[in-house]
Amino acid sequence: MSRLVVVSNRVAPIKEGKIAAGGLAVGVYDALRQSGGIWFGWNGEVNKNPQMRTETVGNVDYVTMALNKTDYDQYYRGFSNATLWPIFHYRVDLARYNREEYEGYRRVNAMMVEKLKPLLRPDDTIWIHDYHLIPFAEACRMSGIRNRIGFFLHIPFPAPGIITVIPPHNELLKTLCYYDLVGFQTECDRLAFQDYITREVRGVIERDGSLTAYGRNFHTGVYPIGVVPDNVRQLANSYRERRHLVGYNSDGRRRKTIVSVDRLDYSKGLVERFRAYAAFLENFPEHRRKVEFIQIAPTSRSDVKTYQTIRRQLESEAGHINGRLSDLDWTPLHYLNKSHDRRVLMGLFSRAEVGFVTPLRDGMNLVAKEYVAAQNPDDPGVLILSRFAGAAQELSSALIVNPYDCIGMAEALDRALRMPLAERKDRYEHMMQAIRAADLDTWRDDFLRDLQSFTIHQAVEA
Ligand code: UDP
Ligand code: G6P
Repeated sequence: MSRLVVVSNRVAPIKEGKIAAGGLAVGVYDALRQSGGIWFGWNGEVNKNPQMRTETVGNVDYVTMALNKTDYDQYYRGFSNATLWPIFHYRVDLARYNREEYEGYRRVNAMMVEKLKPLLRPDDTIWIHDYHLIPFAEACRMSGIRNRIGFFLHIPFPAPGIITVIPPHNELLKTLCYYDLVGFQTECDRLAFQDYITREVRGVIERDGSLTAYGRNFHTGVYPIGVVPDNVRQLANSYRERRHLVGYNSDGRRRKTIVSVDRLDYSKGLVERFRAYAAFLENFPEHRRKVEFIQIAPTSRSDVKTYQTIRRQLESEAGHINGRLSDLDWTPLHYLNKSHDRRVLMGLFSRAEVGFVTPLRDGMNLVAKEYVAAQNPDDPGVLILSRFAGAAQELSSALIVNPYDCIGMAEALDRALRMPLAERKDRYEHMMQAIRAADLDTWRDDFLRDLQSFTIHQAVEA
């Protein structure tokens, strides 16, 4: 079997137990740990001398490098996170475009290819992850690398009308056609990409379903990222009995808990969620003092302006809710910016009556799947899930909400907290079936099997 070489912008910290918050790091870490191979990318540091470092843990070689300040500003903070991230999440209003940042983005992709090249063997399978590295395969081909190269997009692919807001959209998306396989989280994302290719650049859908555009033939597919359900449950069990995880009334009775865990990102719908929680306490006062909402939101990309703005906005919303509704012995909202260990999170999920997952847009949202997988099958909690999370395609037995509908979300909270055991179990079982059918191993195995199996035509004009 050929060796797997994974490339992503952020490489998860190497030490066991602590993984960087974010679905990509969590998913790739688990997937790669099983198959072994190389994980190549940025180590999260910014300094003048971007030395390469290799550390081997178990069967994985972590090969990482720092970025210099200009590369960090243009490639990571700029084009990746101030242009691509907002636009791919439909937040055109928050996006900016700067040509130098785009050039920096292309330059860093080419530089990373040159750093990786000496490590490659001819039969390695190369798997590139996420929006930071869209042009990676094109740079590989230009550099003479002939290996199979697949790409997986962890975030949504927006409708063509949105993506064309990016001034060099044509040039950028042309580079995606240099992959042998391009994978998406949902069929909706895949179709949006196919629409772009067929309408915007007059690409063709071949009889075998592959696409031909810009003189290249390549495949697309849908591979929803998943979790390892038994592992989640095990982690949850190991932490379940810790009393400090959830709040108690002054009379010793446990309060019902609503839990949310997100990177502090405007795509996660946190402001709308806080407002819905406030509306719930206003409209359904019988729940007051009997419930608490724990929002864990570790800060993310905090030197990007739009992230500073959302942080300030949330601090003000949280202060407003607690200032208005708290009592000496009851704090309705616990808003924590610290990142938490996965064991603590899974324990918290298993004890919480409601998982409140309401992004405005999300590629998948692993937290939704983790919340369900952490539940006690005999007395499961209820997942409230935004229709705009990729996970909603599979978890249709959750209470599906529209995060723009404040009252609708408040009503869903009331319904979840009142839901009878039989209905909770029924919904849980349906969701677990879907989670087991598309677990993390399936994600990795299906993608790599497809990448291996397609006949590679690549340059059709050749
Ligand atoms: N996570 C974590 N610690 C935290 C917050 C989040 O380990 O303090 C994990 C969480 O359990 C999940 C991932 O980070 O596995 C977040 O992935 P998700 O797909 O929900 O969102 P993303 O951050 O990728 O947008
Ligand atoms: C999401 C993205 C990942 C990213 C992660 C954390 O999961 O899909 O590509 O690594 O967020 O963001 P950061 O900018 O800190 O790497």
